[in-house]
Amino acid sequence: MSASELVTGDGPIVFLTGAGISAESGIPTFRGAEGYWRVGSRNYQPTEMATAEAFARMPEEVWRWYLFRRGVCRAAAPNAAHLALVAVEQRLGERFLLVTQNVDGLHLRAGSSPARTYQIHGNLDFCRCSGGCGPAVRPLPAALPVDWGKERSPTDAELAALRCECGRWLRPHVLWFDESYDEPLYRYLSATRAAGAAAALIVVGTSGATTLPARMCETVVARGAPFIVVDPEPTVFSEMAERSPRGQFRRGSASAILPSLIEELGRPPI
Ligand code: APR
Repeated sequence: MSASELVTGDGPIVFLTGAGISAESGIPTFRGAEGYWRVGSRNYQPTEMATAEAFARMPEEVWRWYLFRRGVCRAAAPNAAHLALVAVEQRLGERFLLVTQNVDGLHLRAGSSPARTYQIHGNLDFCRCSGGCGPAVRPLPAALPVDWGKERSPTDAELAALRCECGRWLRPHVLWFDESYDEPLYRYLSATRAAGAAAALIVVGTSGATTLPARMCETVVARGAPFIVVDPEPTVFSEMAERSPRGQFRRGSASAILPSLIEELGRPPI
């Protein structure tokens, strides 16, 4: 059944993306062979670096790792899958919504609108005061070079730039493992509501390891709404799709599958 035959209801068409959509742009996923949670930093367990506890204990070491990751992301370019989402947003307008777990910033760089892109795990190009000073989310200081080698240590001037006016450390604007989703910073309620109203949920390149995406998928499947999963490998979400009457598992890479799937969506009746 084509996507346009499957997606017949009113409400937003919601896309949910994970690291897999950026894999073909050269950014490692998290749990793949060369994934960040497999490789991590020289001295520490991967996931250990992504905690508020580690940041409190060793802010400079955590910053070094995030600045390295930001450099990797900034060196990458959006691929055909990112661009296909920009095209469908232009066509669907108000009915389009993108919820991404990716902190790589590639969706926004491709041209997806900030208004309809919920970055539920944050964005590596932004930071916040670790003490909570306003404005909450701000761009990384320009004094920090984008190209950051894995073993590079910040200079004194760069360390100074990583301080808020209040004197406390700035911290990366990313959701850490020992932190919770919220609405102001991570659009938790907005993403949850979107799943409750979605005419369809199209999931691209995520293994389903985190709670909010899992809850979104469970909500859509429980509502009996169309649920399409794109991934080269079976995942917990693809199994959910194969078990649900209006679910589809489109096995393949994001850049191979998504443009044609979006093409299908474009055909009447939508
Ligand atoms: N196209 C589509 N999907 C792909 C591709 C590709 N070219 N290459 C890999 N994938 C799939 C993998 O098969 C896997 O299912 O992308 C998924 C990547 O899964 P993870 O590495 O677990 O990344 P993700 O699901 O985004 O992780 C979710 O976990 O640790 C947190 O904050 C982190 O945002 C991240 C979240």
